[in-house]
Amino acid sequence: MRKKITIVGSGNVGATTAHWMASKELGDVVLIDIIPGVPQGKGLDLLEAMPIEKRDCFVLGTEDYKDTANSDIVVITAGIPRKPGMSRDDLLNTNYKIMQDVVGKVVTNSPNCILIIVSNPLDAMAQAAYKISGFSRNRVIGMAGVLDSARFRAFIAMELGVSVENVTAFVLGGHGDTMVPLPRYSTVAGVPITELMEKSTIERLVQRTRDGGAEIVKYLKTGSAYYAPSAAVTEMTEAILKDKKKILPCAAYLEGEYGIHGLFVGVPCKLGARGIEDVWEIRLTDEEMAALKKSADSVKELVAVVGV
Ligand SMILES: NC(=O)c1ccc[n+]([C@@H]2O[C@H](COP(=O)([O-])OP(=O)(O)OC[C@H]3O[C@@H](n4cnc5c(N)ncnc54)[C@H](O)[C@@H]3O)[C@@H](O)[C@H]2O)c1
Repeated sequence: MRKKITIVGSGNVGATTAHWMASKELGDVVLIDIIPGVPQGKGLDLLEAMPIEKRDCFVLGTEDYKDTANSDIVVITAGIPRKPGMSRDDLLNTNYKIMQDVVGKVVTNSPNCILIIVSNPLDAMAQAAYKISGFSRNRVIGMAGVLDSARFRAFIAMELGVSVENVTAFVLGGHGDTMVPLPRYSTVAGVPITELMEKSTIERLVQRTRDGGAEIVKYLKTGSAYYAPSAAVTEMTEAILKDKKKILPCAAYLEGEYGIHGLFVGVPCKLGARGIEDVWEIRLTDEEMAALKKSADSVKELVAVVGV
């Protein structure tokens, strides 16, 4: 049987995620939204591309949760994106209300699914989805680290004039201004970038990574990034559906790892058929650990506002 993937929210991130997933033939895709006609139109349009792309994926757009029944993966992108001058945290109350509306319906129709949360502020929304769903912690995953790391990788590859395929990078912590890029664990063909670039160059790339989302919001003016975010969700989904046991930075509910309790924070995770199958506790310097704790504290403050 083909796998079934539901994407809640068929705006920029949702529709582009459907596009990447269908083009990789990961499964049948259901797009759902509250705007009448939009998911149906985008879904049908994408379905009609499948003969050209030679992909056997059925794509359906709908406003009815019954059509999402028994999904293997549900990606939640529903919510407002930020505009210039806004931080991700400014979206908290609006998107929390949307999360309350969406998660219950998803869970009723797909009680065995794995949830991948995309809506911002990411860590707080993942925490909300975890609490509302009642799912075990391996089945609720936040997407941020794959995107933030991809931005860092792109900047490293451009700076050194090397293939992006040679570059690996890790960005941990919350998906916000306090995210923690880890140069010591970021490599080009296995060589740490700390051996390849001046400290000041690395700091410049780290800062551009932290500001990566805002840089795009400033250009777009009416919304935020969606190509790289949706490619990131697609990589996570593929790792789960193909049981790849892939190590990716994801927002996970920590129960003591890194000394953090009861909070979603970005850490290295093993993604396989059961969702988050392991959380890797890598050795951090005192400085890196302090940055991770600071990042976790800012997630804690947000989570407290909505009481999840
Ligand atoms: N985690 C990340 O790294 C990351 C990256 C990019 C965007 N985001 C976030 O993803 C979210 C979506 O971004 P976008 O650019 O696709 O925005 P968008 O405005 O293009 O799309 C959002 C869609 O959600 C729909 N929606 C709103 N309420 C809904 C509900 N109750 N049920 C179903 N659908 C509903 C809207 O109608 C809209 O079509 C934003 O919160 C954005 O900040 C997160």
